[in-house]
Amino acid sequence: MNAPGSPVLVFDSGLGGLSVVRAIRGLMPDLPLVYVADDAGFPYGDMAAGDLTAHVVSAIDRAIAEFEPSAVVIACNTASTLVLEPLRSRHALPFVGTVPAIKPAAEQTRSGVISVLATPGTIERDYTRDLIARFAADCHVRLVGAPTLAKLAEDHLHHVTVDPDLIRDQISPCFQEIDGRRTDIVVLACTHYPFLIDMMRNAAPWPVEWLDPAPAIAHRLADVVGVRKTDRKSPDRISFTSGRLIDGAIVRLFAGFGFAAIAE
Ligand code: DGL
Repeated sequence: MNAPGSPVLVFDSGLGGLSVVRAIRGLMPDLPLVYVADDAGFPYGDMAAGDLTAHVVSAIDRAIAEFEPSAVVIACNTASTLVLEPLRSRHALPFVGTVPAIKPAAEQTRSGVISVLATPGTIERDYTRDLIARFAADCHVRLVGAPTLAKLAEDHLHHVTVDPDLIRDQISPCFQEIDGRRTDIVVLACTHYPFLIDMMRNAAPWPVEWLDPAPAIAHRLADVVGVRKTDRKSPDRISFTSGRLIDGAIVRLFAGFGFAAIAE
């Protein structure tokens, strides 16, 4: 059993999981966090399922051994479609995954026309197709695999200028009109995408609801760990699997997500 005050580990292929951290901080500002970015493995979107499962399971095994977390958030849809079961069978820890928000989209749509925007890997997985069959069988659901959108979000977070036309190209298949009814909800099924929301809104041919699952993930985590207020005795930590140094730019970026006292 982990010591009280042990951190929650948040894992993604890159910086996209910070969209989940933002929601966690909103709900549990004092919860100590360890953010592990598997930048050595980025991007996950095109990796074959077997390779990705083995890669992520071993990265999480190492991170658990190093940081001894009380719970793990897989803040990545592409990985969550594959790794939750193997991880739960290996570790007696709570794992919170990131599931495409297909059920809430099906409940909220007025036109009955929705799109799921994700990495090509997430779009292909049975996991995603099963969610549609279970919860959105009455809707027109278009699955849109975006090969480069996660990379564009990484660029944006690193203050690299992103060409709006590239965003338009990636999101335009989401917008369809069927018998006079238009897409009214786009499910953001990759944790990187919320960081491009302003650019996506500007590039959209008409306004839609962009569904971000981060608040639901934060609530699920709160149920698992119990919403707690601590004096954050343990500092937050950041780790890149590439061994990248935690330089001033990274410290400033993470400070925007409440990483106040950062230890490497
Ligand atoms: N952030 C990840 C997700 O939610 C994927 C990014 C990538 O590695 O392609 O799916």
